[in-house]
Amino acid sequence: MSEPPQSADLIVFGGTGDLSMRKLLPALYHCDRDGRLSPETRIIAMSRGGLDDADFRGKVDAQVRGAVPVDDLNVWERFLGRLHHVSVDIGGEDTVGWERLAAMLAGHEQRTRVFYLASPPMTFGPFCRRLERAGLVTPASRVVLEKPLGRDLASARRINDEVGAIFDERQIYRIDHYLGKETVQNLLVLRFANVFLEPVWNSLWIDHVQITAAETVGTPGRRGYYDHAGALRDMVQNHLLQLLCLVAMEPPSRNDREAIRDEKVKILQALRPIVGGEVDRFTVRGQYTAGEAGGERVPGYLDEPDGTAPTEASHRVETFAAIRAEVKNWRWAGVPFYLRTGKRMPYRCSEIVVQFKDVPHSIFPGSAPNRLVLRLQPSEGIQLHIMAKEPGAGEVALKPVPLGLSFAETFTTRVPEAYERLLMDVLTGNPTLFMRRDEVEAAWRWIDPILGEWEAHGTPPEPYPAGSSGPAGAHELLGRSGRTWYEETPQ
Ligand code: BG6
Repeated sequence: MSEPPQSADLIVFGGTGDLSMRKLLPALYHCDRDGRLSPETRIIAMSRGGLDDADFRGKVDAQVRGAVPVDDLNVWERFLGRLHHVSVDIGGEDTVGWERLAAMLAGHEQRTRVFYLASPPMTFGPFCRRLERAGLVTPASRVVLEKPLGRDLASARRINDEVGAIFDERQIYRIDHYLGKETVQNLLVLRFANVFLEPVWNSLWIDHVQITAAETVGTPGRRGYYDHAGALRDMVQNHLLQLLCLVAMEPPSRNDREAIRDEKVKILQALRPIVGGEVDRFTVRGQYTAGEAGGERVPGYLDEPDGTAPTEASHRVETFAAIRAEVKNWRWAGVPFYLRTGKRMPYRCSEIVVQFKDVPHSIFPGSAPNRLVLRLQPSEGIQLHIMAKEPGAGEVALKPVPLGLSFAETFTTRVPEAYERLLMDVLTGNPTLFMRRDEVEAAWRWIDPILGEWEAHGTPPEPYPAGSSGPAGAHELLGRSGRTWYEETPQ
């Protein structure tokens, strides 16, 4: 029998923002519906909004209820009852909101207290200092930091120092929601709870690995953030590198917080730096122009409705990035890891493709190498593409066929959203799926020279029409070695 859930106070900074309304609150509702929140657990949204509890509950009722399954009104009402709102003057000296928060938390020092910072990274340090000044940081407190954690190594270090001055590393949860996705965790199970892959999981048998996160959405209304982020900071530095780590890491000795993260950080440290002239050869950046996507005509990045005119930064920022990475260790030497991510791609698909080498000597015409495809979304599942004989007399004709595990068909249980899993891990104190300080910094250390070179260049990214599979350069990146991107429209 699992333990009854502990009471907690979850305080969300940026509590009425997009992330909170679209991801955190729906995830918390699911946790509540599944009986994973104790009756006393409270969710306190902090924002500039000037709302009171009733306003905030009304807002959540209007915006979140339609996005989650409400099959029992009592459960929904119970969930709304947990919600509170505290207005804070985020940057200013006004102390009313902080005093109200302190009054709400007083007498509950024994509870798990989670400060979830879903606010811009430059607020992390100041918020932590304010919390400390108000005497709100208890031994049972944890702080969750949303990405992006800085915009380069120096700023990430600064934030880590500022937060680390108030919270112990064991209390800090740096979130990367890709690590909460079911298939990502299944990758660990596939690799480390089965024996058959390990002997071939190396440069002797694997030709290359592709990691793709393609999105159909553009960036309408997000240019303010995106102009200063770009695909490399927004997706590669965190999500894609984390996936690379899970594919490449050595088997950890235990399934625990440090053992897994120790192995991941070794991979980040083993990434071959891409510097100087190599940046041009091994990286590609693109920006979408107008095109046809998802059956409709959509504007280019520079013309996305945003309420503001594009700036100099808008012209230079990439909405697509592709990189040829290499892990310099015994297992992976010489195996390219191709990473790519883009907005306004022809379909939404996040997947890892492990491309095996061809058989050493083929006795059949038309054979093709095996391939393992781990689909994170949509239609989560794992497929091993093997060669089979097509039925029929006469010449042997080969056909690649997938041996598949579809989560939806195999398991009847609902596949939880990444944030559900991660929020429960924070509440129960399990940081395994969160990034440690050294991981974040190692990832930036590898990204920084690429960013530096791109910025020094001053040339705009390669254009690609919305709805296409990215700029020509991305195809050349693989084409140079006779390889191609795996493109199969997810069903
Ligand atoms: C976020 C990025 O971290 O991940 C967004 O900031 C991106 O730009 C999102 O759209 C993608 O997440 P998912 O789970 O939809 O693949």
